[in-house]
Amino acid sequence: MAPFMKTLKIAVLPGDYIGPEVMDVALDVLKAATAPAGIQLDLQSADVGGAAIDNQGSALPESTIKICEAADAILFGSIGGPKWEHLPPAEQPERAALLPIRKHFKLFANLRPGLLYKELTEASPLKTERIPEGIDIACVRELTGGIYFGPKRQRELEDGDVEATDEMVYKRSEIERILDVAITTAKARSGRICSVDKANVLTTSVLWRKTATEYIAAKAPEIELTHMYVDNAAMQLARDPNQFDVIVTENMFGDILSDEMGIVCGSLGMLSSASLGLGKNQYGNPFGLYEPSGGTAPDIAGKGIANPCAQILSAALMLRHSFGLNDIAENIEKAVKQAVMDGHRTGDIAFGQKSIGTQEMAQAVIERL
Ligand code: IPM
Ligand code: MG
Repeated sequence: MAPFMKTLKIAVLPGDYIGPEVMDVALDVLKAATAPAGIQLDLQSADVGGAAIDNQGSALPESTIKICEAADAILFGSIGGPKWEHLPPAEQPERAALLPIRKHFKLFANLRPGLLYKELTEASPLKTERIPEGIDIACVRELTGGIYFGPKRQRELEDGDVEATDEMVYKRSEIERILDVAITTAKARSGRICSVDKANVLTTSVLWRKTATEYIAAKAPEIELTHMYVDNAAMQLARDPNQFDVIVTENMFGDILSDEMGIVCGSLGMLSSASLGLGKNQYGNPFGLYEPSGGTAPDIAGKGIANPCAQILSAALMLRHSFGLNDIAENIEKAVKQAVMDGHRTGDIAFGQKSIGTQEMAQAVIERL
């Protein structure tokens, strides 16, 4: 940590349904964890998603972008839900706010840790004997390219039929920069990368595989690189997740595989994520957006029972990546783990044992900092 660093300027975008509930308590944890080090938080809240549609008429208001641009990092909740599903797809929170904000800040690298504590293996749908030590893998997902952002159109054909097209587009440079992130991630772990594609069918995947092979051989020959087709990867994740260390893959495959990884790891309520680009904040660290991997959980919103751990752990990722505060990040991560091990669990990870609410969960974490 730079010794002069005293104030962390954070754009806080809670979003919809459980978003604000888990954000509130995650901020309590963040304050409790940073205050002893004399660190102050300059929290700038802004509307995003459905909340922004309701309050300001658009899912990603200019004022929200401005607040994010002025900050060192964005702490994001989650957005979308049934209340806005009647809107045309392009105006719904996910497409009108989340994708544009990723694109605006060029956040091309999405890091999703797939972590399941040994003490929590019962939370996984996998049999415990398949994951006796828990799970510890990482997914590096390309986030601003591919079919999500390629040209889209819908047209009526002469015979009256209707045709819709989404193009999947990748440049070699886009593949190389996400590989760089995968290499850095792998070097901090076991040095193994599995690149996931569909090179038996897709041209973008042929380029992806060739680029991965050549780039890693040239830039990081010490990395052990393997390739896997995405359908097989989906199967292998459910069969033996720990055969992977770092998975690197394109946007759409990463979206799907990371959800699978989430459930294999027990609960989306525990999974954090970091989205990074090349932009730097005033401390010279990566500017990033940090959000839970799960959604807005409309079914349990307002009940005070949502698991805040993914949001809390996302805040820890923010401290690590955007502020270089590794010790505090680790302190939070250990406190979450200890709280869970001590039996403090929200409903999604309670498994018949006593379950507690969002605030109590956060309190249990704060007590263990
Ligand atoms: C995710 C989400 C988003 C995505 C949706 C909400 C647009 O599923 O972050 O994984 O597909 O990227
Ligand atoms: Mg997803």
